[in-house]
Amino acid sequence: MALPTHVTLVDVGPRDGLQNEKQPVSTAHKAQLVALLQEAGLKEIEVTSFVSPKWVPQMADNADVMAAIARRPGVRYSVLTPNMKGFEAALPTQPDEIVVFAAASEAFSQKNINCSIAESIERFAPVVAAAHEAGIKVRGALSCALGCPYQGEVSADEVERVVQLMKSIGVDHMGVADTIGVGTPRKVQAAMERALKHYPLVEVSGHFHDTYGQALSNIYACLELGVHTFDASVAGLGGCPYAKGATGNVATEDVVFMLNGLGIDTGIDLDRLVDAGAFISGVLERAPVSRVARAILAKRAG
Ligand code: HMG
Ligand code: MG
Repeated sequence: MALPTHVTLVDVGPRDGLQNEKQPVSTAHKAQLVALLQEAGLKEIEVTSFVSPKWVPQMADNADVMAAIARRPGVRYSVLTPNMKGFEAALPTQPDEIVVFAAASEAFSQKNINCSIAESIERFAPVVAAAHEAGIKVRGALSCALGCPYQGEVSADEVERVVQLMKSIGVDHMGVADTIGVGTPRKVQAAMERALKHYPLVEVSGHFHDTYGQALSNIYACLELGVHTFDASVAGLGGCPYAKGATGNVATEDVVFMLNGLGIDTGIDLDRLVDAGAFISGVLERAPVSRVARAILAKRAG
């Protein structure tokens, strides 16, 4: 199959990226990051999550961040909602899309959201229904689709089982997530193919943490299947607080550089994206993890 000519990138940096940061990041800095991402041309931004502040303190200012962002027409702002309580808190903040997140492994489901896979689906069902009632699209994230920090190997059958459960409650989009970055291209294709059995190409995306340095290869493997939507995190920020040792998502800058080289359009201005990454890295007082960002910043400095 010919590679896609256009790819949609969802920057999850403000949520997945920042959720793991121990030092408090101010609401104003979070809103500024969103502003810089949309200036760089991002059309989809995962802004925050409506989860328990006891579990993820960094996201406690969720509603304030949603109120502080200066929205642009044509940009979709999404938030995570693990249950009705989260959805009810999110709704007045007017997200364009919500994300329910399940896991392909029982152990991770328990550690991350404190319930079994079956219980999580029961909790999501009314959330999906309420979102649809409010005209809000629902994205599903499927964690540990390529491996679990507690269970180890995760099979494509386990992935497909939860994909089907999410589909059965009306989840509109399936994001296949490699939470701990252990996937390799053929395994990723096998997992993606299971999602593609139940969702059309346009409603399947990849979410790759880059812990083992495989994320770009895995994205390329998805492009070979025609998958053309990916999550990425500016500056390579992040990790999951319930997956010890897992590093950030693949850096948006690195994905854009690769796609530019392949002649695949993203609508993103790489230089401005590097500015966004440099900004948040400055706030966090460290260099961006993104290799592309570092190279471009070194070139600018030289
Ligand atoms: P629980 O303790 O089982 O929930 O947590 P509960 O219903 O028994 O409630 C316990 C307390 O939490 C109560 O408060 C509730 O009000 C409160 P208390 O009476 O003790 O004061 N509570 C909430 N507060 C705010 N917002 C809510 C909410 N729900 C209950 N929505 C829960 C269940 C899901 C809430 C908890 O386990 C949680 O917040 N977990 C955090 C999960 C998380 O944010 N993980 C990281 C994001 S997922 C991710 O990164 C993976 C992804 O990137 C894909 C990938 O890479 O794999 C998406
Ligand atoms: Mg993640």
